[in-house]
Amino acid sequence: MLDQLDNIQRNALDSLAQVHDEPALDNWRITHLGRSSPLMLVFAGFGAVPKEERAAVGQAANRTKLALEAALADTASSLRQQALERSLAEGHLDVTLPGRPIRRGRLHPSTQQLRRVLSILAEMGFQVYTSPEVETDRMNFQLLNFPPHHPARDMQDSLYVDVPDRGDDQILLRTHTSPGQIRAMREFAAADPKNPPPIRIALPGMCFRHEQITARSEVQFNQVEGLAVGEHITFSDLKGTLTNFARRMFGQGARVRFRASYFPFTEPSAEMDVECFVCGGVGCPVCKGSGWLEILGSGMVHPTVLENGGYDPRRYTGFAFGMGPERQLMLRYRIEDIRYFWGNDIRFLEQF
Ligand code: DAH
Repeated sequence: MLDQLDNIQRNALDSLAQVHDEPALDNWRITHLGRSSPLMLVFAGFGAVPKEERAAVGQAANRTKLALEAALADTASSLRQQALERSLAEGHLDVTLPGRPIRRGRLHPSTQQLRRVLSILAEMGFQVYTSPEVETDRMNFQLLNFPPHHPARDMQDSLYVDVPDRGDDQILLRTHTSPGQIRAMREFAAADPKNPPPIRIALPGMCFRHEQITARSEVQFNQVEGLAVGEHITFSDLKGTLTNFARRMFGQGARVRFRASYFPFTEPSAEMDVECFVCGGVGCPVCKGSGWLEILGSGMVHPTVLENGGYDPRRYTGFAFGMGPERQLMLRYRIEDIRYFWGNDIRFLEQF
């Protein structure tokens, strides 16, 4: 019996020497240590061993079992080690290679320009006030002094939402940021209706018009509106503020001019031009030969609009202005087609 155990051990270790991978090792384990392996049969047949040999056979069988288990563990660990070395050698992992750069995103050029405008206005004391993109006809037009059917509405083709039974007060996507003027004045005035506080705010955001999309017009674009209301505010304040704004935005040497204009919600109204920064005012295709670029509309807040906002026009005056960040970018970088802004072409966006 002891000889038989010697043989079992030798056979098993000999065959283990032929094992070179994990599946073969698994087979080996089943064959030599499994339930029906020769060694386990020795344990199973223990009852038949004469009494006086049992202790010796028992010890020898246990030694064999321990020896085979130890050999199994050794082989398993050296197979794992070999596998690791092989995969390192095959993978050619060069830990000294520089890492792959992470592509960082950036803000959309419109957002960048919007923020430039807002930060200049913030330095001048204008706080951001946001108002809804979906508006009522009253807010977007009527309270700004565009009555229903007024011809000035033709300047702003509108996208209406189909809501029944609203009469003259339809729902639409705001065509400009100016309705925020009414909302802001009403909110400020509500705090102290007899003595409404002075206002100095910037109203940024997306506007929508029912335009044929071309190189020069889009159905959506951003605006930034400014509004200052208080006692003794004059047209000089408007000119000073906007001239200063232009210098901060376009450079200290920027020259500006004001041209009389018309908006229903301001009186008087003016458009501000800056001297063409492409040709320096000599005349070029960008300024269409005039030497000037129109960059914003402005005016003294119309008394009716002040009243609609809850500010008594006999006591308060104010000025307002509105500009388009996309238009400013187009002028600054000579972008010849407004459709690039919402076209999501990465080759365009990456340039900013
Ligand atoms: N809301 C005007 C537009 O979209 C722009 C504008 C002009 C705003 C004059 C103003 C302003 O506040 O005073 O065409």
